Amino acid sequence: MDLSVVILAAGKGTRMRSALPKVLHELAGKPLLEHVVDAARQLGTDDIHVVYGHGGEQVTEQLADLSVHWVLQEPQLGTGHAVAQALPTIDDARRVLVLYGDVPMIAVADIAPLVASEEVGVLTVKLADPTGYGRIIRNQDGSIARIVEHKDADQAERMITEINTGIIAVGAADLKRWVANLDNRNVQGEFYLTDVIEMASRDGHAVRAHRASSEFDVAGVNDRVQLAKLERIYQRRQADALMRDGATLRDPDRIDIRGSVACGEDCDIDVNVVFEGRVKLGKNVRIGPNNVLRNVVIGDGVEILANCVLEDCEVGAQTRIGPFARLRPEAVLADHVHIGNFVEIKKSTVASGSKVNHLTYIGDTTIGSGVNVGAGTITCNYDGANKHRTVIGDNAFIGSCTQLVAPVEVGAGATIGAGSTIVRNAPPEKLTLSRAKQVTIEAWKRPIKKPKS
Ligand code: UD1
Ligand code: CA
Repeated sequence: MDLSVVILAAGKGTRMRSALPKVLHELAGKPLLEHVVDAARQLGTDDIHVVYGHGGEQVTEQLADLSVHWVLQEPQLGTGHAVAQALPTIDDARRVLVLYGDVPMIAVADIAPLVASEEVGVLTVKLADPTGYGRIIRNQDGSIARIVEHKDADQAERMITEINTGIIAVGAADLKRWVANLDNRNVQGEFYLTDVIEMASRDGHAVRAHRASSEFDVAGVNDRVQLAKLERIYQRRQADALMRDGATLRDPDRIDIRGSVACGEDCDIDVNVVFEGRVKLGKNVRIGPNNVLRNVVIGDGVEILANCVLEDCEVGAQTRIGPFARLRPEAVLADHVHIGNFVEIKKSTVASGSKVNHLTYIGDTTIGSGVNVGAGTITCNYDGANKHRTVIGDNAFIGSCTQLVAPVEVGAGATIGAGSTIVRNAPPEKLTLSRAKQVTIEAWKRPIKKPKS
């Protein structure tokens, strides 16, 4: 089926009180408009037209990757006028679905039936408090006769609780004809898209109402309070999905997924964990409280203790991280590795069974297997202009408080004495250290505080 989607996103969004156009505000870490475009794509169409206006360039620049047709609406004279701007480039034979850039949780299951039908369709929902919305006026036979805006409605009409979500589907040729006949003789002086429904009905079309499955799926964002409410609902749905996939969430209301999480069975996730980008967890992964994981792949049986930040990295099976560890981009840990508190690892690989347990910086380094890196070790990878690599062989032992000045290599099985500054390669299997000789000054006395004069 040939479907074109028109997404209205030209409104000012005044109530956001923001320099950022409303549709660029984020739900679950993704701009509102992108959620809507993604939903449209899931219907199997690439013919997506976004009507923009306020803050125009910001929207088209920041969302340039969406590859949609951008249509400028200037000035903004109402929803009917907005749709009219997109119609000239849409072929008469296509079906048009109208969506909204500020209705981010629109569900494909709700719009697919509208699209599949050949009739004029309107997505409606019943609200306990319909104030402000357009009301659905039905014919005897159940079809929709017209939609009346709240501001134009009389007392009896305002009692109706079935409202217009704004989302409609209609043939392009019909829509073009009806939109061309719209006028703005109403309380708001706008060209209402909703008036198309009465025209359709008068032309002998049976206009069908399709009910949305939940009011949240069709809820628009007008201010930051509404946005925060939707965020919680969105997050809770993702949390529920994760639990259905076999994860234990210590508190499903205290997890944030801004992207996607795939997990193996029996993962256990404590409170206040934030997932961003694409995260993949193996089986039996345990994640303690207050962790941030962004674009990471975590192996089976990994344990991440409290308060760690992991970004763009890979963690092998049975490895233990934290508490208070930081894995930066291109950290690649093998299996059975231990990374402890206040350890930072960047662009480095750590092979099986190695331990970096306390107060250490490892950058641009290759660490072999079975290595023990003592507390307070620093790889000095930056000379002020360029980065250099450190290589540590299998089973090496790095004494505490060592500085490895890159480029430098520590051989397999080597031992580095504590407190050394290593500037040349240390041979395998030998003890290497660089330290001033320890002396004791017999005659030395501690200074004494002078008496106050
Ligand atoms: C509209 C519907 C109303 C429905 C409600 C659901 C009309 C006349 N009324 O009312 O029946 O119950 O949505 O939320 O359609 N927009 C443009 N260009 C414009 C005007 C609006 O792009 O010139 C966009 C806005 O950015 C917004 C959407 O269209 O995303 C809805 O516009 P808004 O003015 O908020 O319509 P409502 O009065 O809420
Ligand atoms: Ca609105």
